[in-house]
Amino acid sequence: MKTYTLSNGDQMPALGLGTWKSEPGEVYKAIRTAISVGYKHFDCAYIYQNETEIGAALSDAIMTGEVNREELWITSKLWNTHHRQTDVKECLNVTLKALQLDYLDLYLVHWPVAHKKDVIFPQDGNSLVSLRDIPLEETWKGMEEVQKAGLVKHIGVANFSAKKIAQVNQSASQRIEVNQVELHPLLQQKDLLDFCRKEEVILTAYSPLGSRDRIPQMKAEDEPDLFEIPTVKAIAENHNCSPAQVLVAWAINRDTVVIPKSTNEARLKQNLKAANIQLSTDEMNKISNLDKHFRYVTGAFFALPGSDYTLANLWDE
Ligand code: A2P
Repeated sequence: MKTYTLSNGDQMPALGLGTWKSEPGEVYKAIRTAISVGYKHFDCAYIYQNETEIGAALSDAIMTGEVNREELWITSKLWNTHHRQTDVKECLNVTLKALQLDYLDLYLVHWPVAHKKDVIFPQDGNSLVSLRDIPLEETWKGMEEVQKAGLVKHIGVANFSAKKIAQVNQSASQRIEVNQVELHPLLQQKDLLDFCRKEEVILTAYSPLGSRDRIPQMKAEDEPDLFEIPTVKAIAENHNCSPAQVLVAWAINRDTVVIPKSTNEARLKQNLKAANIQLSTDEMNKISNLDKHFRYVTGAFFALPGSDYTLANLWDE
């Protein structure tokens, strides 16, 4: 498995298992299966509401000697309710307890959006707190504190623009090491990729397969299907693999981390295998031409009237 080296020499595996939308009741089995077929990297979050079951699976796999904690790479994310510097540790502790771990490999600020502490999902503008009241720099100080305390090895962000990364890094004593954003052939974010390369920020691709299992409220009516793009299908045929495998391979071939989600044994195996597919320069160029700057996860659920948040200032575009 390809890995990326962080500033202290730690190695982050290029492919991890996404767990957003992995339902309680099926995610235990998915994690145990994933570990048994060779996955080492798991991408979790407080808000996915399945960390207790993931924790049981990790703990059982470690207890039976199938895998060591040190071989695993576990990421989780701070929820928007806990952006105050003094609240970061509280949210992290809930995650650590649920996952049955005493440290995370990576902890990310999930969104550049703050909620009132008692509002898990915002319903109206009043549920949100302006970044003028809780600046991202304050949240980042909380992240630095939990890293210093040894509760997490690495810290980073998700859904951050280049502008927000630069803003936080300006006053940071520990710079952002990872940014996790939506990336696939229809949303390639080449400028962000270039910026992150220069800043030595590892970019992780979420929704690499288009997250077709999102709840209906999060889906547009006529969304494109990544598996049906003729160029992707043709490359798949050429490699005798599936379109999903081409998407995973593309992400790794362009030096990003990728975290496809699956709870199905055959697809878990397929996605892991895709990490070793080498695409040609010609194939990479053909996929490069597919970019449409199309988001499946639009962030519209945060752009609520009566708040400071708009899609323009969320993505800085
Ligand atoms: P399942 O969990 O039943 O395998 P994303 O990673 O972009 O969020 O996409 C996840 C969605 O893609 C899920 O619906 C998942 O279904 C499906 N999926 C995962 N791997 C594959 C694959 N290799 N082929 C087809 N669909 C896949």
